[in-house]
Amino acid sequence: MKTGRSFLAFAVFLLLGSAFAAFFIAGRGVPGAYAIELPEPDRESGIPVSRAIHGRKSVRNYSAESLTLDQAGQLLWAAGGATIDGVTGPTRSYPSAGGTYPLEIYLVSGNVEGLEAGLYKYHWRTHSLEMILPGDKRSDLASAAYGQRMIGAAPATIVVTAVYERTTRRYGDRGRELYVPMDAGHLGQNVHLQAESMGLGTVMVGAFFESQVASVLEEPEGDPIYMMPVGYIAD
Ligand SMILES: Cc1cc2nc3c(=O)[nH]c(=O)nc-3n(C[C@H](O)[C@H](O)[C@H](O)COP(=O)(O)O)c2cc1C
Repeated sequence: MKTGRSFLAFAVFLLLGSAFAAFFIAGRGVPGAYAIELPEPDRESGIPVSRAIHGRKSVRNYSAESLTLDQAGQLLWAAGGATIDGVTGPTRSYPSAGGTYPLEIYLVSGNVEGLEAGLYKYHWRTHSLEMILPGDKRSDLASAAYGQRMIGAAPATIVVTAVYERTTRRYGDRGRELYVPMDAGHLGQNVHLQAESMGLGTVMVGAFFESQVASVLEEPEGDPIYMMPVGYIAD
């Protein structure tokens, strides 16, 4: 009887142990698991904002050149990173209706130096990436966007999702219909101008099947709302 109980305890221990290991190996659902600290963003240099506005254009042809982790980090910081300390805490790179910040930022990386191909979540408070899924998801993402080839060719794509309730809780339908898309537009323009300032290109992508993008991202937090492939401009 005693042997039977010890065996059962051992089996439960083994089962829990392997479940725990699988959870961590997959790196899912554990904030900070596989946390990758990004290089400090450059907040000082760049080109004059008026020149970035003047030079900005949609880029749909990317070269095969990889991005560096610095570049990926800089673009993510511009997308939604922490900026100066406001009265109530750090402000962020884009304005958000009522400070409700409904947007989450993911990176589908395929060719970024020092970053294994995979899906990552950007944590703006710590300026770090959390690996959600390993593997190159770029062509699946392109298929979910009507086969727009530039998404498969760019070294990485920033995918923005919206947790609408954060804004609708306060603003109702106006939040869903106006404020959340407005927030996403601000974020996108930041990425556009930052890319221009770094000699990189991007294009806003709004044409995709939300459910298919969500399934490529294996059910992210929030609904996909916007995508931005980024890379060097092909000659
Ligand atoms: C909300 C939105 C969605 C867009 N979706 C796509 C898209 O799915 N594919 C694409 O190639 N361009 C897309 N664009 C880029 C526009 O086509 C582009 O900004 C427009 O033609 C003006 O060109 P410019 O950006 O070079 O000034 C989108 C732009 C916006 C603002």
